[in-house]
Amino acid sequence: MATEQIFKNNILKGKVAFVTGGGSGICKGMTEAMLRHGAKAVIISRRFDKLDKAAEEMRKEIGAEVLAIAADVRKPEDIIKAVELTIEKFGRIDILVNGAAGNFLSAIETLSYRAFRTVIEIDLIGTFNTSKACFPHLKKSKGVVINVSANLHYQATLYQSHAMAAKAGVDALTRAMALEWGPHQIRVNGVTPGPIGETVGFAKLSPVDVSKEDISRRMPLQRVGKIRDIEYATLYLASDASSFVTGTILLVDGGDALRKHSI
Ligand code: HXC
Repeated sequence: MATEQIFKNNILKGKVAFVTGGGSGICKGMTEAMLRHGAKAVIISRRFDKLDKAAEEMRKEIGAEVLAIAADVRKPEDIIKAVELTIEKFGRIDILVNGAAGNFLSAIETLSYRAFRTVIEIDLIGTFNTSKACFPHLKKSKGVVINVSANLHYQATLYQSHAMAAKAGVDALTRAMALEWGPHQIRVNGVTPGPIGETVGFAKLSPVDVSKEDISRRMPLQRVGKIRDIEYATLYLASDASSFVTGTILLVDGGDALRKHSI
């Protein structure tokens, strides 16, 4: 069912969303869902050509206002500039989605020092940099933050020490920001996608000898996720439907994390 048939299509009317990683994959879906429900959006990533194409697609398909800004979340100066451009164009920031991430499979013994640091810098430090740069505007708008996480660190996941450590840190930041920014009426939550079948991450991170059908059979809900599943969670967390929810990390994983506890 389309997200518009579940949520009223004006629930984010007048809101401005600032989405890192918004040009592709899950975060593109999150952006499109917010646009379809009345928001305007700024999408951020390093490669402007790809990003601009995604923005143009969204403008055409949804007819909403989308601004593409090339910036690297690892560089505070880039993100501060992107926030300034957003304020010049739209005047406000109501919803921040920290989605920019990097990941690949590598054993610790072969992972280079720089590779480990790179993923920590994109996922964790990028979340800090962007949140801090957006804070004055979120304070003004009594906004919301959604940090995209993963369930890798609930137990342990082979060959993803870098992403595990980064996302554990992101979850800690989610709770810290929720605690400190609650008095400003800024809500901060996480969303944790399980295996989402249509993504680059799913293709890159699934074991090579295991099919999508095998993964589906192992899931308590007997299927892998769709980007649409994360769109529903985004609309809940970005809208007043979750107005008393802060500091939570919403698992949208078809029960995948439960399975990791079972034999
Ligand atoms: C081992 C790797 C590597 C790989 C990069 N590195 N890819 N090491 N295996 N596959 C190493 C490089 O050799 C280098 O170290 C260091 O990481 C930095 O790489 P660069 O390419 O120079 O950096 P950069 O251009 O900044 O890009 C880094 C990156 C990118 C963002 C990590 O390589 C990448 O993976 N992009 C894909 C983005 C992606 O997959 N997004 C989906 C995420 S899915 P040396 O020492 O050689 O210089 C996700 C889901 C979470 O996050 C889990 C859900 C359940």
